[in-house]
Amino acid sequence: MQGALIAITYAQIGSGSSQGTPDSRCADPAESLNCTLPICLLRSSFQRGRFISGVLMVAIFACMGLSAQSQSQAAAPAHLTIDPGEIVTPVSPTLYGMMTEEINHSYDGGLYAELVQNRTFRASWEGVEHWGLVRHGDAKVSMEVDKAVGPSKALPYSLKLNVDTASAGSEAGVSNPGYWGIALKARTAYRGSFYAKLDDAMVGPITVRLISDRTGAVLAEAQVSPHTGPWSRYEYTLTTAAMSPASAANHLQLTVAQPGTLWLQLVSLMPPTFNNRPNGNRADLMERMAAMHPHFLRLPGGNYLEGDRLVDWYNWKETLGPLVDRPGHQAPWTYWSTDGLGLLEFLEWCEDLKIEPVLAVYAGYALRGQHINPGADLEPFVQAAVDEVEYVTGDVNTKWGAERARNGHPAAFPLHYIEIGNEDWFDKSGSYDARFAQIARALRKHYPQYKLIATAPVKATEEQPDVMDDHYYKPPYEMMDFVHHYDNAPRTGPKVFVGEWATRSGTPTPNFGDALGDAAWMTSMERNSDLIVMASYAPLLVNVSPGAMQWPTDLIGFDASTTYASPSYYAQCLFAAHLGDGTARTSITGTGERFFYSATVSSTDHVLHLKLVNASSVDQPITVNFKGVTGEHTAKMTSLHGATYEATNTLNDPNLIHPVDAAVRIPAGNWNHIVPALTIEIVDVPLR
Ligand code: AHR
Repeated sequence: MQGALIAITYAQIGSGSSQGTPDSRCADPAESLNCTLPICLLRSSFQRGRFISGVLMVAIFACMGLSAQSQSQAAAPAHLTIDPGEIVTPVSPTLYGMMTEEINHSYDGGLYAELVQNRTFRASWEGVEHWGLVRHGDAKVSMEVDKAVGPSKALPYSLKLNVDTASAGSEAGVSNPGYWGIALKARTAYRGSFYAKLDDAMVGPITVRLISDRTGAVLAEAQVSPHTGPWSRYEYTLTTAAMSPASAANHLQLTVAQPGTLWLQLVSLMPPTFNNRPNGNRADLMERMAAMHPHFLRLPGGNYLEGDRLVDWYNWKETLGPLVDRPGHQAPWTYWSTDGLGLLEFLEWCEDLKIEPVLAVYAGYALRGQHINPGADLEPFVQAAVDEVEYVTGDVNTKWGAERARNGHPAAFPLHYIEIGNEDWFDKSGSYDARFAQIARALRKHYPQYKLIATAPVKATEEQPDVMDDHYYKPPYEMMDFVHHYDNAPRTGPKVFVGEWATRSGTPTPNFGDALGDAAWMTSMERNSDLIVMASYAPLLVNVSPGAMQWPTDLIGFDASTTYASPSYYAQCLFAAHLGDGTARTSITGTGERFFYSATVSSTDHVLHLKLVNASSVDQPITVNFKGVTGEHTAKMTSLHGATYEATNTLNDPNLIHPVDAAVRIPAGNWNHIVPALTIEIVDVPLR
């Protein structure tokens, strides 16, 4: 590329955190001016973590032909020919989406914005977890779970507080630490509620406070005056004043200043939520998901759909309506689910992100290996699946559409895909064929318009799936070796939904080696997207607080206060945001085994989205020939680079690896380029 003009902008360079090992060949930008490679300049600057926002650096490289020779470590030159005018396969418009379930405190203590942990006073042999007594001065108080007194059928028990001694200044009550803290911001209104029952009004009022763990300072306070008599729901608002700094080291207290007895249940506190949904989601996590450009959400699981035992199945009917009518259930990932994020909240989550649900219905298999016999035993679950689809899609004149309207959402939700079960290949009894057939028959009778997804091959039945759900979890090199899996797969059977996949080695979130494996895999899914209609990385979320995680390698990390993006997250966002509707004819020679690429064309934007993935430790010189593209073009390039496979982002160093934008001039004819070692590049080449 002799005499090419390269303009590099540093629009997204991070906030000055260390960027790993500097490139020894161009450790200093001044020095790098002697480098023949523009990317040297780019890497050197972002590796050193400089913040050069808005700086336009223009370098003229007159001797690009020498560049490959000047590399101390570079692979042999490769040749890539792309014919954007010849589309060989379509790309599914719904290729990239999301899969979630209650794992790693994804919902309770995560996306679901509730701040109070164990708000329904569930007790173990250790007592009422996450609740402690407050005794100021000479106050005397004890607590116990009263199994006979509760506000609803779903919550037939409560916390009984026996206050023997209390007075102004010597208050007594209970406190809750939240989910690894309660993150508070200045000048913010937190809306709370609880159910209470009193025998004697003298015990009131109840004072609710947010208190700093570090200083004991009261950060917000409200009073509620409950009345005697039956259970009632009380609301309160806690508004913080100016505070500094924002912190999660806070707890909630409910206290009284008079002796007496009171019963409490369902103590809740919600921060402002995404789109201000009541009972809604954390805004920061929703924003992370929106940036992934997803097309769908596979819900509600995963193992979470099934449960360990048959009794633990995801009984969606018990996740609806007022919170006081939701009993919650034992989820498979070791902890209790409040079901505060229930079926309607799942659907509203989709609505907020303008995406569709991929609805998984329970198919009668439990993780410990039991199954429900097909036939009469399975029939109630078949009906539950049919009802569930009606709840999602039926109009208000249907039984379950009317229930949805009563729950606050008269409008039906869009739906195209229904999945029957989860990972039923684990069922060694061989019952899935018949279970699938029975459920599929009923669903197709009521809803012939929807595509049905099977989770294990369905043999010799009259009901065949439209789509198969395949799952892959592999370490980086295995994932890279797997990229040809679908290249020659038959195109005559069901389509494929890669409903769970991830390259796994980093913990709690993927490292850069994982991102390279993911990027390699995504190039193969794009190439095979005539067959692969949808794909979703899993798991999506992990609360990285001590003890919160069950499954290492999760896309987005968070704690009570903040979130961070893994390198794999950035790779996902970039791949999904730069995807055409057809795959261009290409051919490549000369690359090693760790080089991957995808070339898709957007027929509406007239852009070629070229993805180049160099997962090897040496730079890859490459000559790209864009057939039929005449004249010079300025392309937008976004790079994601890590110094090593192990390099990663963390809560404390969230920006070590991040996308960097550049502009590159693509000359007429051949583009001589070098893809640096351990780098993912997305190049958008305008075709007009
Ligand atoms: O994503 C974690 C788990 O992996 C899912 O719950 C399950 O479907 C798979 O085995």
